[in-house]
Amino acid sequence: MGLIQLLFLTTLWLVAVKARLNSRQPSGYIPSRIVGGSDVPVGESVPYQVSMQYSTRGGYTHFCGGSIIAPDRILTAAHCCEGLNASRMSVVAGIRNLDERGGQRSQVVSYAIHPNYKELETSDIAVLTIQPPLVFNNVSVGLIAFNDKQFVGGGVPVSLTGWGLRLPVPFPFFDNVNYPNTLQRMSYHTISNDLCRASGMDSVTETEICARGPFRGACSGDSGGPLVRNDNGEIKQVGVVSYGLVVCGLFVSPDVYTRVSTFSDWLQERVDA
Ligand SMILES: *[C@@H]1O[C@H](CO)[C@@H](O)[C@H](O)[C@H]1NC(C)=O
Ligand SMILES: *[C@@H]1O[C@H](CO)[C@@H](O)[C@H](O)[C@H]1NC(C)=O
Repeated sequence: MGLIQLLFLTTLWLVAVKARLNSRQPSGYIPSRIVGGSDVPVGESVPYQVSMQYSTRGGYTHFCGGSIIAPDRILTAAHCCEGLNASRMSVVAGIRNLDERGGQRSQVVSYAIHPNYKELETSDIAVLTIQPPLVFNNVSVGLIAFNDKQFVGGGVPVSLTGWGLRLPVPFPFFDNVNYPNTLQRMSYHTISNDLCRASGMDSVTETEICARGPFRGACSGDSGGPLVRNDNGEIKQVGVVSYGLVVCGLFVSPDVYTRVSTFSDWLQERVDA
């Protein structure tokens, strides 16, 4: 293990402990995949979903999810980038299984973390710039609509996709044996922010949106991954996986997402930059 890797793992460890003291932690470090979900069926694609991968001596390791908002821009969570070396990050689009060949790999050139980001508090959102740009076929690789400003309330059906983590310890980079290989999908409903606060997520703000369902989702799969809704046939991104409770899959525990509609102007600026 190189010094950089060691420092990196140490940083992750500190993040996890700190988060645990708060009785919650970024979902990407929770040792489980999406709870209550199922494999995305063979032959089906989630064209806007990408896997964020970190290169180590052993190859590439999946560590977060993201979504495609322009050929060369990826939407993800701030906590998926903060402190990381962009030149060791890449994204893969157009895959269903993490180990499959094919798909398009693109290098992260830089990332922009929202200036108001505060871990486990607010604005857990970031945009990656990648090179080369992804080539869209709109079947396995394509855009997600991110700039709908409508405020989504409670009771709206939403679905989440991701590869998640299922390591027994919060160290995503030790090996890649324990990752679910096939993209998982899970559906549940949003809840109002008032209900979310009343359900234990007391610091939720208007920049966030919560969702929950019976015995599902509490591990939330991948941090940075897309929560979407179907608006009369158009799939729109509602949230970015931010955090959940340490204990996964409890009926009462909502998942907290960054509310994408709050950031639509900032995201458009990043896309146009
Ligand atoms: C980032 O990673 C690259 C490639 O591994 C390395 O050359 C560079 O020194 C790293 N930068 C920092 C700031 O660690
Ligand atoms: C994919 O969809 C975009 C619109 O979102 C369109 O401009 C583009 O031509 C489509 N590409 C293909 C290969 O169908």
